[in-house]
Amino acid sequence: MSRRVIRFGVIGCGLMGKEFASAAARWCHLTDVTFEPRIVAVCDAVPAAAQWFSDRVPSVQYAYSDYKELLANPEIDAVYCAVPHNLHDRLYTDIIASGKHLLGEKPFGIDAEANRRIREALDARPDVIVRCASEFPFFPAVQQMVQWVNEGKFGRIIEVEAGFWHSSDLDPTKPINWKRRIATNGEYGCMGDLGMHVLHLPLRFGWKPRTVRALLSNIVLERPDASGAPVPCETWDNAILACDATAEDQSFPLVMSMKRIAPGHANTWFLRIAGTELSAEYSTKNPKQLASMPYRPGGKQAWQVADVPYVGAYKAITGSIFEFGFSDSILQMWAAFCDEVAASIDGRAMMQPFYCATPAEAEGSHRVFTAALASQRDTSAVAIDWEEAL
Ligand SMILES: NC(=O)c1ccc[n+]([C@@H]2O[C@H](COP(=O)([O-])OP(=O)(O)OC[C@H]3O[C@@H](n4cnc5c(N)ncnc54)[C@H](O)[C@@H]3O)[C@@H](O)[C@H]2O)c1
Repeated sequence: MSRRVIRFGVIGCGLMGKEFASAAARWCHLTDVTFEPRIVAVCDAVPAAAQWFSDRVPSVQYAYSDYKELLANPEIDAVYCAVPHNLHDRLYTDIIASGKHLLGEKPFGIDAEANRRIREALDARPDVIVRCASEFPFFPAVQQMVQWVNEGKFGRIIEVEAGFWHSSDLDPTKPINWKRRIATNGEYGCMGDLGMHVLHLPLRFGWKPRTVRALLSNIVLERPDASGAPVPCETWDNAILACDATAEDQSFPLVMSMKRIAPGHANTWFLRIAGTELSAEYSTKNPKQLASMPYRPGGKQAWQVADVPYVGAYKAITGSIFEFGFSDSILQMWAAFCDEVAASIDGRAMMQPFYCATPAEAEGSHRVFTAALASQRDTSAVAIDWEEAL
């Protein structure tokens, strides 16, 4: 079967750039897809980072240190850009203006102003497909929850909790890096770093926070730099956002948390939806298990926990009894992005309906984070106007 090849350039060859290289290298894992990514060019400001690709990814023909050279290469159809947040708006706007499709990393601009510039670039190039990375909704159990929401199975929503928790920053000797500095990570702190993962599904479901009361904490105030000397660690470590969410015909509490210091939690992403007819809970801590409780008036309230089969949005060679993990969710997210790009070229629909996070959803996350900063400053609940330009 001949597949449509999408030729990629990777800008930012760090942690996430490498994850894409790995996903592209195991494309044979997916059984029915009619498209495939091919990484032909890479760019990193640090030559050794780009060299990692040249040494390991046979399809790489070009390695650059200036991203503008990569954008000038006509042999590239699409770009994955995974760079520090302070660079998002300059690089994303240039990528979009070059006419190449873009999967950009969150938070899609270091702040609301940067995000607005990215959206303006997109308004000028509506022919370019632009999406924001967010992989957790591709876990099979989460896809099941998405289906239940779309089918209206929960009845009236009672409340929703969503979160993404890390814990390595509990160690005060962990050295400072760009994610702990305002200049490179942004005022949002942990919200900019972790928040899009939490907001992606609520926003996809149309659950817009009408107000937000934020509790932001900066717990570790200094960290060692490369020489071991203590330097300020300026960014918010933890955020709890208590929101009053509205859907089409109902409103309910939506509590979201993004934590860099949640003791014992390494990359725990979770979603809990309580409804009058169905409740469901999922956490990547137990990646196979989905808990749910259907309810009828007067009926028994009994939770059931099921091992969810390995059935992703895109079919894979893995048997259904085996476990799905982080790198599988990255692979599925890449399949969704490449499917959307290939579908736009070939004039067809996507192979399945769940598409990657959109620029509009990223904009929604900026509305929430900007209001959260105001809420923390004023120690009050802040209203979010979804009609007003951000
Ligand atoms: N989707 C996820 O699960 C996930 C996880 C971690 C990080 N991220 C996001 O990915 C992005 C990158 O994070 P990371 O953890 O990969 O960071 P990283 O520090 O590991 O990698 C960033 C790379 O960008 C390079 N770089 C810096 N300036 C550059 C420039 N001008 N041109 C080209 N390259 C440049 C750096 O040298 C580095 O190799 C961020 O937006 C972050 O929020 C997403």
